[in-house]
Amino acid sequence: MREIRFGIVGAGMMGREFATAAARWPALLDLDVAPRVVALCDTNRDLFDWYRQNFASIETFTDDYHDVLANPDIDAVYCAVPHNLHAGLYTEIIGAGKHLLGEKPFGIDLAANARIMQAIDQHPDVLVRVSSEFPFYPGAQRVIQAVRDDLIGQIIEVRCGLLHSSDLDPNKPINWKRMVRFNGEYGCMGDLGMHAVHLPFRFGWYPSNVRALLSNLVAERPDGEGGLVPCETWDNALLLTQVEKDGFTFPMTIETKRIAPGETNTWYIEVTGMRGSTRFSTKQPKTLWTMEYVPGHEQSWRSTDLQYTSAYPTITGNVFEFGFADAILQMWAAFLDEIAHGKDMTQPFHCATPQEAHWSHRLFSAALQSHAASSVVAV
Ligand SMILES: NC(=O)c1ccc[n+]([C@@H]2O[C@H](COP(=O)([O-])OP(=O)(O)OC[C@H]3O[C@@H](n4cnc5c(N)ncnc54)[C@H](O)[C@@H]3O)[C@@H](O)[C@H]2O)c1
Repeated sequence: MREIRFGIVGAGMMGREFATAAARWPALLDLDVAPRVVALCDTNRDLFDWYRQNFASIETFTDDYHDVLANPDIDAVYCAVPHNLHAGLYTEIIGAGKHLLGEKPFGIDLAANARIMQAIDQHPDVLVRVSSEFPFYPGAQRVIQAVRDDLIGQIIEVRCGLLHSSDLDPNKPINWKRMVRFNGEYGCMGDLGMHAVHLPFRFGWYPSNVRALLSNLVAERPDGEGGLVPCETWDNALLLTQVEKDGFTFPMTIETKRIAPGETNTWYIEVTGMRGSTRFSTKQPKTLWTMEYVPGHEQSWRSTDLQYTSAYPTITGNVFEFGFADAILQMWAAFLDEIAHGKDMTQPFHCATPQEAHWSHRLFSAALQSHAASSVVAV
């Protein structure tokens, strides 16, 4: 078992998810590589206690990420900090020669993303990947397989998105994800968008143009201290795009919404084609919808209750259900597998790439222009 020694930078919500995925590693079978979390960094030291209580492997607790980067025994870093810090921290992590799984959107804007891309070019020996876990759901893996096996035929249309609804409550206090200076001008696109476009981009479906409709539905939010402050980020984004692929053009609709009534972290993708169609949503995490079409024959959608068949085999019996924490574990398995085996990974689906994140920046920047000008913008 090869051990990869990790530092976590950003010990908030996502830092805890990675730490517990590392603790669940024995659930993975047949993988010859494992993480060991040895250092933790956050400017909020109050967060350290929970890690202290649960992770005996952590030797270093610090509020200065340079302590993590200066440690020659650390191989890799998971960085989950607000978007305004991505460019500065990611470039330094890569410059220090540490492998990086960084959170999306990989820079607060296109210029910040360009700095990260430049650092990656200058350090080809460092593996840099972007956190995006939903494609590891078994249903999403089956959509990937259907596209790869060309069961779709000529594509009619693609729809994908990530939907939330907790911001429907106007009394929900503001946090950094609703502030432009921390989250960025992209608003909900920067926060949710990479999740939505990960699979389409992996399939090579890059939009040539976009017409974006953006909404800021709740313009003020409680500041948590009895007052109200402006909430300037986009709550919802609807992107109508056009994709050219293999001589055909098809529409692709991308939704990222913080105010989609009734939706709680609903990630979905639907691909319809002249030969076959398929759709999967985490709203029904076990259910895969497929339709095979034979010209002249009846059309019927079929729902299949999927078993627990993950990209990386686990101890979990295939009669059980797959969930968010499982997707996180599978994503981490893919990252470590790629660190250990490069192109010879034990299964073919690798984590989202910086190039895919870069394309998301091009799309979201064009979307901002499109909305401002009420017009179609080339990506
Ligand atoms: N993959 C996913 O499903 C998913 C879900 C939510 C958030 N995210 C992404 O994860 C990242 C972090 O989001 P979160 O929800 O964990 O936020 P969070 O606010 O819970 O955690 C961020 C942490 O970064 C710390 N921090 C700020 N400045 C720092 C610095 N200079 N050095 C070290 N730590 C610092 C904060 O104190 C905080 O604890 C964002 O990029 C976000 O888009 C990804």
